[in-house]
Amino acid sequence: MFLSPADSRLDLPSMTHLRSYQAAIAEGYQIEPAAPLLGNTPDSQALHLAWLNTQGDTLLLPDGRLVPRVPHRQLWLTHAYTFIGRVNIRFQLLPEMELWGGNIGYAIRPSMQRRGFGTHILRLAIIEARAGGLGRLLLTCSDDNIGSIKVIEANGGMLRDIIPHPRQPGALARRYWID
Ligand SMILES: CC(C)(COP(=O)(O)OP(=O)(O)OC[C@H]1O[C@@H](n2cnc3c(N)ncnc32)[C@H](O)[C@@H]1OP(=O)(O)O)[C@@H](O)C(=O)NCCC(=O)NCCS
Repeated sequence: MFLSPADSRLDLPSMTHLRSYQAAIAEGYQIEPAAPLLGNTPDSQALHLAWLNTQGDTLLLPDGRLVPRVPHRQLWLTHAYTFIGRVNIRFQLLPEMELWGGNIGYAIRPSMQRRGFGTHILRLAIIEARAGGLGRLLLTCSDDNIGSIKVIEANGGMLRDIIPHPRQPGALARRYWID
C-alpha cells in the first residue's frame, strides 16, 4: 500500500508498532544512541519502549557524559501498524542544546524518505510543541543536510545563524527560529 503523509499521525511509542520499528532499524533507521539495546525478548522491548517514554531522569551521552534529561516527548509517526519515523520535542533547553539539538529533532526511516513525511512530522510536532506551551522554537541541522534544511524552511524556519558544528569538527551547523 502506498502511504501518503495525510494518512499518518503521531503516536506514543508502543508495542503496536514495534515489529515495524524493528524492520525500520534493519533497513538503516538510526535509533537514538543513548537508547537501551532492543533485542527480541519481551523484557528488552519493554525496557526500550519505557526508556523512550520516560520523562526526566538522566542521559548517558555517547561521549560518556551523564547529563539531565530535559522535559521532552518522543512521538512516532505511524499509519496502522507501520512505523514511519520519530520526532523528539524538547520543552526545555540546556545551554549546549542551544548550539545543537534545539527544541525539535526528527528522523524518517530510509524506505519512506523523500515522500513528504519529514515535512509532515515537523508540522505535526510544531502543533504538539505549541500545545505544550512552547513559543519560539529553535531548530538545528547540519549545513549539508539538504533534506532537513528543506523540511525546516517549508515549516517557516527563519535562518538565525550558521555556526561551527558542535559535533563535527570542520563542518558547519545551521540554527533556525520558527515563530
Ligand atoms: C532529513 C529527513 C528527516 C528528511 O525527511 P524526508 O521524509 O525525506 O523529507 P521530505 O520528503 O518532506 O522532503 C523535503 C524536501 O527535501 C528534499 N530532500 C529530502 N532528502 C533529501 C536529500 N537527501 N537530498 C536532497 N534533497 C532531499 C525532498 O526532495 C523535498 O524537496 P522538495 O520540498 O523540493 O520537494 C530524512 O532525510 C532523515 O530522516 N534523515 C536522517 C535523520 C536526519 O538527518 N534528521 C534531521 C536532523 S536535523
